[in-house]
Amino acid sequence: MKTKITQKVFEPLLEKTIDESKQGSAYESIIKQPTSKKAYIETYGCQMNFSDTEIIASVLSELGYGFTSNVFESDLALINTCSIRENAEEKVWNKLKELKAIKKKNPGLMVGIMGCMAERLKNKLLEQEKLVDLVVGPDAYRDLPRLIESAENGIKSINVLLSRDETYADISPIRLNTNGVSAFISIMRGCNNMCTFCVVPFTRGRERSRDYRSILNEAQELFDNGYREVTLLGQNVDSYRFDDCNFAQLLEKVALISPDLRIRFSTSHPKDITDEVLFTMKKYDNICKYIHLPAQSGNTEILEKMNRGYSREWYMNKINRIREILSECAISTDIIVGFCGETEEQFLDTVSLMKWAKYDYAYMFYYSERPGTPAAKKFKDDIPEEIKKQRLQTIIEIQNQNSLLSNQKDLNKTFKVLIEGNSKKSDLDFCGRNDQNKMVIFKKQPHLKPGDYVHVKVHQITSATLIGEIV
Ligand code: 5AD
Ligand code: SF4
Repeated sequence: MKTKITQKVFEPLLEKTIDESKQGSAYESIIKQPTSKKAYIETYGCQMNFSDTEIIASVLSELGYGFTSNVFESDLALINTCSIRENAEEKVWNKLKELKAIKKKNPGLMVGIMGCMAERLKNKLLEQEKLVDLVVGPDAYRDLPRLIESAENGIKSINVLLSRDETYADISPIRLNTNGVSAFISIMRGCNNMCTFCVVPFTRGRERSRDYRSILNEAQELFDNGYREVTLLGQNVDSYRFDDCNFAQLLEKVALISPDLRIRFSTSHPKDITDEVLFTMKKYDNICKYIHLPAQSGNTEILEKMNRGYSREWYMNKINRIREILSECAISTDIIVGFCGETEEQFLDTVSLMKWAKYDYAYMFYYSERPGTPAAKKFKDDIPEEIKKQRLQTIIEIQNQNSLLSNQKDLNKTFKVLIEGNSKKSDLDFCGRNDQNKMVIFKKQPHLKPGDYVHVKVHQITSATLIGEIV
């Protein structure tokens, strides 16, 4: 039987990028499971949501569910949703319209909303859409068996309780969105930061860290099964702490599993990332030299209104420190333009920060007010949409130049690349990432397979990829 989930993306932790078109697209793998009931799962949003879908799949498989990529042959259709911006939710509403039409033809189909929208809208989802049978928040996936049973008996069911300690540490994820080479490991859940624009603390609850022993077991098991890259996920990985193990120590423990296991992590918070983390990265070749360090804005007053906990200067010093300790480290960012009251001058501070930082990559958004967040309560969303869009366009153009510049610097360099699979454009080529998270394309050689490491010399670049040959 086949499994349908959305395409794997390497994007900022919380949600999507300017390329939101990929969401909802199909990605298939086979799971053999003798069962009569079939589930269809579609995932929207951030890496954490994709990781949660693997927990949901695990719970369903214990219940005897198999998986299908064809919603028409499913008994249960689950949508794992995202609330980070209004357009993320709009996409889910559109999907629900599609499901409504399908359910008309197949009234036996049960429909469930999982994740952040479930948490944010709660009962409203059951009330507004005659379609929805189950509403399950991010901390309630263990309760799925009970909720599904109740829905099967015709009683719509909901569990949106947030937990202070749920980490799903003992649930072994079913790797649906897998290339067999790289996998996500969720190391913590929730967020305590309360950035004023962000809905995450409300949809995912308080921050809690997962027992490092279960993280290490999961990483070891992945390695034993042929995986060669793990990405440690948390809303703010720098505040990971379990007993006396902090994030730097966790990184070290995972790095020691094998020099052939690459370690990545996301997301770092500029106010929390420590020298200890940077020196641990330096000490181990298998910890990838890539840091996603969201700035959000380049203006100190706006940063204060966002409650980010740092100033422009502090942020710039962090970047300097990273480059001082890790000279080859790639840095990416998230930027929001058009936040409440952002003046042209304040926006220009973001422009100048981006030019100064020369990010290797950036995820850029215009502000989207989220109901119930501190910003929605305290400030007016007063920047006209047209200006927001203009500002976004301006920084996208700057980043295009930054990305091109960053790739130009890689011309004629040789990188260690972990082969992920065929390149999108040609079966004759492989693709894989270098340490800095850049996609590298090169001609296949017969003895090589996904999961192998090769050294590739770059002889051509675009703003998105490096093209080279094995040396
Ligand atoms: N509007 C626009 N962008 C947002 N993000 C978070 N909340 C909002 C919002 N209300 C962005 C931030 C965050 C990324 C994952 O999404 O840049 O880092
Ligand atoms: Fe949201 Fe800020 Fe927490 Fe990130 S750090 S999840 S932006 S509140």
